[in-house]
Amino acid sequence: MSTASSMASSNKRLEGKVAIITGGSSGLGESAVHLFWEHGAKVVIADIQDELGRAIAEKLGENACYIHCDVSKEEDIIHLIDTTVQKYGQLDIMYNNAGIVDRPFGSILDTSKDDLDRVLQVNLVGSFLGAKHAARVMVPQHQGCILFTASACTAIGGLSTHAYTVSKHGILGLVKNLAAELGQFGIRVNCISPSGVLTNLVPLTEAEKAQAEMMGAKLANLQGKILKAEDVAKSALFLASDDASYISGLNLLVDGGVSVVNPSTWKLIGLIRD
Ligand SMILES: NC(=O)c1ccc[n+]([C@@H]2O[C@H](COP(=O)([O-])OP(=O)(O)OC[C@H]3O[C@@H](n4cnc5c(N)ncnc54)[C@H](O)[C@@H]3O)[C@@H](O)[C@H]2O)c1
Repeated sequence: MSTASSMASSNKRLEGKVAIITGGSSGLGESAVHLFWEHGAKVVIADIQDELGRAIAEKLGENACYIHCDVSKEEDIIHLIDTTVQKYGQLDIMYNNAGIVDRPFGSILDTSKDDLDRVLQVNLVGSFLGAKHAARVMVPQHQGCILFTASACTAIGGLSTHAYTVSKHGILGLVKNLAAELGQFGIRVNCISPSGVLTNLVPLTEAEKAQAEMMGAKLANLQGKILKAEDVAKSALFLASDDASYISGLNLLVDGGVSVVNPSTWKLIGLIRD
């Protein structure tokens, strides 16, 4: 092997690993699919958007496949995990990323129980089931990594709707409890909590997207950069890789520090930006 190719292979941080990414047909999940695959993982895209997911898998070719899976249905999750293990012989990384938002409204008085149920069913129950059935395979393996996409709303109030916020706080609780239980089997459990990224999570016109990006940049703490799906994928890669081999129970905020900054302080000390 030439020095260049041995360097290239050693730079592949997920070589030999098998990863499932739910919600992998779009947005943050799609970005993680590409990055995990580039880093040598065999990647299973799990989603309900079959055409998009299949097209990504076909484009990647070897070491990628698509499996239809509605994460809120336990039979779909069982099928996803069992098919992955039959195909690749193991499961190293389960990235529970699929998620939805409810209708954009503010008050709890406007939140219907149906909205709450729908969001909890996908974001929280789906993540719970994904973790449960991944653990079923990982416990006998005595190794594994379970990841979730939570949200910066786990660290700061008022960022999202109540139903969505509750669902993401549930994930954070699950991360801590699972880390406590599964550590004895060498399984690490962590979540990634991004602030706003323009994806298909909220359907927007091009003009609305430009406006949202401008507003996001104004509200951000870290200036000179806009958070992109690729940045979130890099954090997922870090947590999935052996670089994070002693990290478990972490809520990794990918928010440029916005959740630890109180804008009123800026006003007080005269640092407020235009
Ligand atoms: N975009 C953001 O600003 C942001 C911020 C914080 C957290 N998140 C979280 O990131 C995750 C990914 O969201 P995104 O922004 O990439 O949105 P997205 O809509 O682009 O992607 C979400 C994917 O999940 C899939 N999905 C939805 N319901 C599903 C189900 N029942 N079963 C399987 N797949 C399903 C969708 O088909 C889609 O491919 C979500 O959990 C979201 O809550 C997003």
